[in-house]
Amino acid sequence: MTFGTSSTQAYGETWYWNNRYANESGPFDWYQKYPSLAPLIRLYVPHNHQRILVVGCGNSAFSEGMVDDGYEEVVNVDISSVVIKAMQNKYQSRPQLKYVEMDVRDMGTFEAGSFDAVIDKGTLDSILCGNNSRGNATRMLEEVGRVLKDNGVYILVLIILSISLTMPLLLHCFSIFTILLYQNLLLGINVM
Ligand SMILES: C[S@@+](CC[C@H](N)C(=O)[O-])C[C@H]1O[C@@H](n2cnc3c(N)ncnc32)[C@H](O)[C@@H]1O
Repeated sequence: MTFGTSSTQAYGETWYWNNRYANESGPFDWYQKYPSLAPLIRLYVPHNHQRILVVGCGNSAFSEGMVDDGYEEVVNVDISSVVIKAMQNKYQSRPQLKYVEMDVRDMGTFEAGSFDAVIDKGTLDSILCGNNSRGNATRMLEEVGRVLKDNGVYILVLIILSISLTMPLLLHCFSIFTILLYQNLLLGINVM
């Protein structure tokens, strides 16, 4: 199962993202910027004492927007060492923002149940474009489920085209979830 075409298949590959970030100055947000999703984020992720994980953060300004909005601990991971170094430099004076190089398919350095919310904007989509997409997406979703607390929330922003591939994986990996349609995007809100 692969969602990608020959031109998008590289979205599942580390070398593609490292090359891209080495040659592209950010910030760039896929799909939506923080202000347009903020009402939904505030609704499902209340501000008080929330530890939030953003998977596949890229050079997006989304997490900066969350901190400006009052969130106090936003941990960001990405498989690209190039973008993580750039973001660590950019935000060294913002202790609320942490950037860690990590593969979402293996987040073993995070303890089980250590995040209140996981936000994914475009990362599951990228993995679905690559080789072995079903296996990689399943590993990613299992890790998301592991690091979330009970009653944690998974906010998944993806293009509508990938719904038919994503739904069976979500049903397989998570016990209960509700679905929200937002403009031309799907937001999967997972309640563990
Ligand atoms: C489409 S971009 C989205 C970037 C950002 N979330 C946004 O909304 O603008 C996908 C991101 O996922 C990252 N990525 C792809 N596969 C990954 C993996 N296995 N683990 C962690 N990050 C990954 C890429 O490096 C890239 O930054």
